[in-house]
Amino acid sequence: MITGSSSGLGLAIARKLNGTYHLILHASKEEHVKELRENNSVLAADFNDPAELKAFCKRLKAEHGDDLFAVINNAGVTFDKSLVYQPETDIDTMLMVNLKAPIMITKTVVKLFGLRKRGVVIQVSSCVAETGNAFQSVYAATKAGLIAFSKSMAKEVAVLYEQHEIRILTVSPGLIETRMTDAVPAKEKEKYLNMIPAQRFGKPEEVAEVIAFLLSDKASYMNGSNIQINGGLL
Ligand SMILES: NC(=O)c1ccc[n+]([C@@H]2O[C@H](COP(=O)([O-])OP(=O)(O)OC[C@H]3O[C@@H](n4cnc5c(N)ncnc54)[C@H](OP(=O)(O)O)[C@@H]3O)[C@@H](O)[C@H]2O)c1
Repeated sequence: MITGSSSGLGLAIARKLNGTYHLILHASKEEHVKELRENNSVLAADFNDPAELKAFCKRLKAEHGDDLFAVINNAGVTFDKSLVYQPETDIDTMLMVNLKAPIMITKTVVKLFGLRKRGVVIQVSSCVAETGNAFQSVYAATKAGLIAFSKSMAKEVAVLYEQHEIRILTVSPGLIETRMTDAVPAKEKEKYLNMIPAQRFGKPEEVAEVIAFLLSDKASYMNGSNIQINGGLL
């Protein structure tokens, strides 16, 4: 199941995994999922609405719980603004979509994975979780929260289940060419480019490749880690 698979990173991840796995595609509204519907499932929910998030977790368990193998918590939003001027509604939305939804989805699936002692959860964080970024303080806080959450859950699962193959990981992309970065003003983009040793923004497909690897048995000894995919941006 890939949240936010209607565009950007989520869509690239879905394209990469299509055919290898039966996918559960997600967006805030069903009609936003335009690609890859054939042979896959769609489960929509606006994660900013607590009732929709709750219903989503319930349906995920009821309709797909028996054969769910992995969850990629990718859906996210940013409202770049000084905290001083940031409306509380922006703050609530970022906390809900970027942090509470991945937590509630992980809570749902860890119980299911525990029954089979197998499964993978990948949270999509961001490089700003570690570096911080002016005008993204709340966004960065939600993304940093995901890293601590994954590390803690990786440890907690080991207490809950013996001899398990459940892995909980985070990836932290740098600047990747998507709808989210399209909104960054040209002058800002120039500034970021000068900070990236790779001298370019990343492509969504470059993140998707790493996710595919992390899902595979080739990454069987990776757990709790935060993997940076950022062209050297530190
Ligand atoms: N692009 C970057 O440079 C970058 C860097 C670091 C981390 N990230 C992270 O990567 C993830 C994907 O970002 P992206 O760049 O691919 O952005 P994007 O193209 O804007 O995609 C965001 C996805 O999240 C979904 N979403 C947004 N608000 C939602 C809500 N209220 N409820 C449910 N789903 C919602 C969107 O669904 P709808 O189509 O229905 O709106 C969409 O599928 C995010 O978590 C972002 O923070 C991105």
